Amino acid sequence: MLALLLLPLASPAVASIIHNRAYDSPSFRAPQLATPRDAVRRNHKRWEYYDGQVKFPYNVASGDPESDSVILWTHPVPTTNDSRPICLEYQVSQSNDSWSEGDIITSDQVWTTPEVDYSYKVEAKGLQPKSTYYYRFANCADKDNVSPVGRFLTTPVEDDDEIDKLSFAVFSCSNYPFGFFNAYGNAAARDSIDYAVHVGDYIYEYRGDGCDDENACYGDGRDIGRVPEPNRELFLLEDYRTRYKQYRSDPDLQALHASHAWQLVWDDHEVADNSWKAGSADSNDTIAGTQYNTSFTQRKANAVKAYFEWLPIRTVETDDALRIWRSFKFGTLADLFMLDTRQYNRDLTDVYYNTNDVKAIQNEEARSLMGGRQENWFYNGLKNSSERGAQWKIVGQQIVFANLVSDNVDAWDGYKANRRRVLDTISQNNIDNVLILSGDSHANWVSDITYDEKDGYNTVTGDGSYAVEFAGTAVSSPSSFGYNHTANKPLPAETYIQTAQKLINATGNEELQWTEGATRGYFELYLTRQDATAVYYGIDDVRTHSSDERILATFVVEDKANKLKRPVADRNVTGGVLAKRG
Ligand SMILES: *[C@@H]1O[C@H](CO)[C@@H](O)[C@H](O)[C@H]1NC(C)=O
Ligand SMILES: *[C@@H]1O[C@H](CO)[C@@H](O)[C@H](O)[C@H]1NC(C)=O
Ligand SMILES: *[C@@H]1O[C@H](CO)[C@@H](O)[C@H](O)[C@H]1NC(C)=O
Ligand SMILES: *[C@@H]1O[C@H](CO)[C@@H](O)[C@H](O)[C@H]1NC(C)=O
Ligand SMILES: *[C@@H]1O[C@H](CO)[C@@H](O)[C@H](O)[C@H]1NC(C)=O
Ligand SMILES: *[C@@H]1O[C@H](CO)[C@@H](O)[C@H](O)[C@H]1NC(C)=O
Ligand SMILES: *[C@@H]1O[C@H](CO)[C@@H](O)[C@H](O)[C@H]1NC(C)=O
Ligand SMILES: *[C@@H]1O[C@H](CO)[C@@H](O)[C@H](O)[C@H]1NC(C)=O
Repeated sequence: MLALLLLPLASPAVASIIHNRAYDSPSFRAPQLATPRDAVRRNHKRWEYYDGQVKFPYNVASGDPESDSVILWTHPVPTTNDSRPICLEYQVSQSNDSWSEGDIITSDQVWTTPEVDYSYKVEAKGLQPKSTYYYRFANCADKDNVSPVGRFLTTPVEDDDEIDKLSFAVFSCSNYPFGFFNAYGNAAARDSIDYAVHVGDYIYEYRGDGCDDENACYGDGRDIGRVPEPNRELFLLEDYRTRYKQYRSDPDLQALHASHAWQLVWDDHEVADNSWKAGSADSNDTIAGTQYNTSFTQRKANAVKAYFEWLPIRTVETDDALRIWRSFKFGTLADLFMLDTRQYNRDLTDVYYNTNDVKAIQNEEARSLMGGRQENWFYNGLKNSSERGAQWKIVGQQIVFANLVSDNVDAWDGYKANRRRVLDTISQNNIDNVLILSGDSHANWVSDITYDEKDGYNTVTGDGSYAVEFAGTAVSSPSSFGYNHTANKPLPAETYIQTAQKLINATGNEELQWTEGATRGYFELYLTRQDATAVYYGIDDVRTHSSDERILATFVVEDKANKLKRPVADRNVTGGVLAKRG
């Protein structure tokens, strides 16, 4: 053993492979997920590393910023057929064009290998709070062979009470074959936010949408040159990796990854449609090896491993293979909670053939979207946040939270007791300024938040509301208010207005203040000490690559009001339908 360790090259190689977090993917204690470094070392026992040129076709990315560190990501590709380890040096600088040794704040040489599909994910440490940094990756074998430059902003320290503004762009549901990622490109170009938040459905596992039948295959991207790769539904590790390669070749997605640090959580499609802890719409562990002889459990492990390889997120807890729920502190201005209501420990959901069964149990006390451990962490986190004097409590999560009259038991409506426990935590502890960010639904919804019974809620003034929800439409997935699947285009505009009007009018939907289903897009959230402002951007056409977008509506929540400011959106919207109750 000792002799081995003393071999030349052995120790630097061992040291630098350890710093590539891609091998932890996401937990080194989970044998089916992590790539044991010992096995990697055996595969490459001579540690001869690749000495040719590399390309960076997937650009660069950063994520999970803290006040003194950040995750940096890239994915080099050798220009020749070679399976030797690739050594890259990550470099962080305070300026985009100063990369001399004296200008580099921190750097290290770290390996990546084919065992993790050449993913390269490192934590850069020793940074200053509230600072903008630039980073790049240089080939150790040729320091002039460098990646594009990325940029990120570190967070303020926990007790910073001088920070008085903070902003996020919020995205969900980016379906590659359905359209161009104009939303990402536009947010990157406008460059008006600090961070990008993604609340899930970052990739889709489908072949196209509805492509079960070869002859009735729509949404397969053929007409816009965005046919999914591989051109089939994903089950195996190689499938998921190939799909990420395709998404991360997209120039708009690359631009937003390079220009901002992201905070992400997954929803169902990073694994499979309508997934819950033990199955999905088309896979489970009851029938062995339903497709590609892959159980749901193995499929989920494959999906999770590829997710951790491709996304710049931290390993939250090395003993907990599935945990991505985590939180971020932004001085005393805000805490951001990123929840996993989907994969971690969610009880049975609607998988289409059991809708009535799930409706029959939607009120059960024991049902949880998050599992007990995560629920406790979240409730304690909200209380702690309030106690430490963090002004805004931002909750990034997947599915629509408001209690709406809908038949969607795949949302919080299917887990009513869990929703009540969240509201109890807020109301019984007098927690102010909770803003819930949601995705998943492919439409825009802005609501005050009340209990199911809406007791004490004034539908005109909004008094009696406990929080506010901003739910955003999809980057490109088709509207949940309807889509012309045969022609692969949206329905006529008036159809979306009629649907929105019906939803606004429906008895039981009094907390819903605005909804819109015609456009694709995203929203930006601006926090100050006085208020929170959400600006909704609508994109009319994602079948063309363009920078067209328009502001649909702007909403304000004043400090400690816990409801939308009246008149809602100043009665000025350029899309969807506004409730005009006051
Ligand atoms: C790459 O190299 C391996 C091992 O030398 C060889 O088996 C394989 O056929 C090569 N692939 C290509 C595409 O040249
Ligand atoms: C860094 O500078 C280059 C060259 O001017 C530019 O193309 C790139 O967009 C800049 N990158 C960032 C992250 O600002
Ligand atoms: C499991 O999947 C199979 C094949 O899709 C399906 O027939 C079966 O009903 C599913 N079982 C459960 C318990 O969901
Ligand atoms: C699944 O396993 C069966 C039995 O071993 C085999 O015949 C079949 O080819 C496998 N199917 C796939 C898609 O791998
Ligand atoms: C809440 O604060 C307590 C006491 O400081 C700490 O032990 C706990 O880890 C915190 N929990 C969360 C979720 O922040
Ligand atoms: C879908 O589009 C086709 C072709 O434009 C049209 O004939 C059909 O009526 C549309 N269907 C719906 C439901 O709008
Ligand atoms: C919604 O309510 C408004 C005002 O009460 C009414 O004018 C309109 O016809 C209703 N629309 C629908 C679709 O129910
Ligand atoms: C209404 O909103 C649009 C989009 O934000 C804005 O351009 C316009 O100035 C607003 N109109 C009024 C009267 O405030």
